[in-house]
Amino acid sequence: MATLDLELGGPQTVPEAADDGVWLTCIECGETFAPFDDVRYTCDDCDGLLEARYADTPTFDDFEGRGVWRYSEALPFEEGVTLPEGDTPLHYVPDLEDDIGVRNLRIKHEGMNPTGSFKDRGMTVGVRVAQEVGVDRLACASTGNTSAALSAYGARANLETLVLLPAGKVAAGKVAQASLHGARILEVDGNFDSCLDIVQDLASRGEAYLLNSLNPFRLEGQKTIGFEILERFYEDEGRFPDRIVLPVGNAGNTAALYKAFRELVRSGALAPGDVPKLTGVQAEGAAPMVEAIENDLADTKRWDDVETRATAIRIGNPVNAPKALPGIRNTGGTAVAVSDERITEAQRDLAEQGVGVEPASAASVAGLRKLRLSGEVDPGEDVVCLTTGHLLKDPEAAAEAGADPEPVPNDTDKVLDHLAGKRVSLDGDGLLGKVLGALR
Ligand SMILES: Cc1ncc(COP(=O)(O)O)c(C=O)c1O
Ligand SMILES: [Zn+2]
Repeated sequence: MATLDLELGGPQTVPEAADDGVWLTCIECGETFAPFDDVRYTCDDCDGLLEARYADTPTFDDFEGRGVWRYSEALPFEEGVTLPEGDTPLHYVPDLEDDIGVRNLRIKHEGMNPTGSFKDRGMTVGVRVAQEVGVDRLACASTGNTSAALSAYGARANLETLVLLPAGKVAAGKVAQASLHGARILEVDGNFDSCLDIVQDLASRGEAYLLNSLNPFRLEGQKTIGFEILERFYEDEGRFPDRIVLPVGNAGNTAALYKAFRELVRSGALAPGDVPKLTGVQAEGAAPMVEAIENDLADTKRWDDVETRATAIRIGNPVNAPKALPGIRNTGGTAVAVSDERITEAQRDLAEQGVGVEPASAASVAGLRKLRLSGEVDPGEDVVCLTTGHLLKDPEAAAEAGADPEPVPNDTDKVLDHLAGKRVSLDGDGLLGKVLGALR
């Protein structure tokens, strides 16, 4: 197993730039910045990714209340623009656990957040920071869920919201949400990565405040997924899970969970040996992170042509890779790619347990099954799979994966005949019905 490198890095002392014990550090060169004075998403000196840092990192005893803001001691503010979010179920799925063959399998269903995905956790914090910085317009590029969450939180905060979507590649439920919550929706003739390029340009020209996961404060909110999993699993099992398997797009959650664990390790609340192995899953048609892990690359290579039915993770240039690759490597995890067919099967497997998820979410379970079959995951492991978005986000994919409705006549006897497996004519007492009836 890889040696655990769980240091937070950067200055150990509070820099002058800090505001109430919070500051930003460049993960590449270590430069520090004031958190809310100017709008910046990357390092002024080297363009590296920024990370929020705190004078104090929390222990489990510091957490109080429910939902994302239970973890305010690990966040830049005490409270934010809330709907409220977090506190999602950690489902037991005993049949699937037996079928896949691990000691414990639990499903952390992030589809149960207010707008139906984990993005709400990032937005409750990100929009609070936008208020602090004092901006007029919020913006994001999105494969769908980010736009749905930003539109709702932007509406709640009474801020103008602009979303850029790849034309024709966003699931219907997500566009409907952005639309009804009042965002201005621009459909770009390009993929998600082109949308992100444009919105980054707009942000750097001061046209909007960027709320993609490149914004370090989004990831602060998403850390709370990690805190919740650890707390809940420990409550139930008296130990922490061995592994967390999650779908990967821009790799924001992978980076956020890794940061949550490092902060707990720094405070002494979590032993380095208890940090779960972060295991990322991508669709075969959009798997730059898997390529980087398998080939031991220092960074991901951009995939210009990406395709998968799991549109939420149809991403070829994961911006958080520099934060997430060490997360996978230093926790002893791995990354794996799965086919769209296996993703749909996993979506059905979860649905059979009553857990309704969108395709990207099911990738975690498909990935776990693959790693169990290859022997990379041990049967004795305690595993949590993250399911990131709700089934209703992508009704078309759900309908395709599920059974077709059966047309029946408007007649109880005929419905009973149909249920008994008899052929029933749809035109009731029409000529065809009479003929078929006579033949029976
Ligand atoms: C449902 C769903 N799953 C997974 C992801 C990918 O998450 P991340 O960018 O944190 O890897 C997204 C967002 O892009 C999503 O909407
Ligand atoms: Zn730098």
